[in-house]
Amino acid sequence: MKKIQISPSILSADFSQLGSEIKRLEEGGADMIHVDVMDGHFVPNLTIGPPVIKALKKQCSIKFDVHLMISPVHKYIEAYSDAGADIITIHPEATDNLEKSILKIKSLNKKVGVSLNPESKIELIIEQLEKIDLVLIMSVNPGFGGQKFMPEVLDKVKQLKKIQTQNKMYFDIEIDGGINFENCQKAIEAGANILVSGTTVFKSNNGDIKKNINLLKLK
Ligand code: DX5
Ligand code: ZN
Repeated sequence: MKKIQISPSILSADFSQLGSEIKRLEEGGADMIHVDVMDGHFVPNLTIGPPVIKALKKQCSIKFDVHLMISPVHKYIEAYSDAGADIITIHPEATDNLEKSILKIKSLNKKVGVSLNPESKIELIIEQLEKIDLVLIMSVNPGFGGQKFMPEVLDKVKQLKKIQTQNKMYFDIEIDGGINFENCQKAIEAGANILVSGTTVFKSNNGDIKKNINLLKLK
């Protein structure tokens, strides 16, 4: 079984102190930093772009897990790669040619992630599974932090895990949205090996990041 990793979302960080927030995450044992990029078009919220990522990247040495919720995504891939993204995750609905966008990310020597909204089916990406490094299963409708976990997506995680095992594939299975101490074990048992968490990591236990990360890892 793959090691469980936590990718805290900076959407719940103090935006006036992002540099020190990133350092707090690194010191607290985060395995990577989840950056939610939103365009006010693909999702109804606006967040940060490449210059902010570039500036933050200098503040720590762990991987940047960049979740692009922007459309059309293809023409912006290179800018996020140049800014310092290590993993670039896109939604199939945000590109008119998923394979072309996947190959673009690979050509930049970055890890490729593809994300499925709660309503999106595995069939949308099945033909691409051989080429990708990570599948991000959304457990809320993308757009905002602090939403309620949708337990029905766990079936999709299980289905994906089964496909992975049957075909001897090695992509990571990441889950994103409403992850907390009550549901993290179920997500892991279903097959997720990377948990994204904003609210739980930053706000639980008076913001004790190290404790929250360890609890999510079931330690
Ligand atoms: C939602 C984002 C998530 C979310 C996670 O669109 O992709 O990364 O902010 O935050 P919590 O853990 O608060 O649901
Ligand atoms: Zn995200």
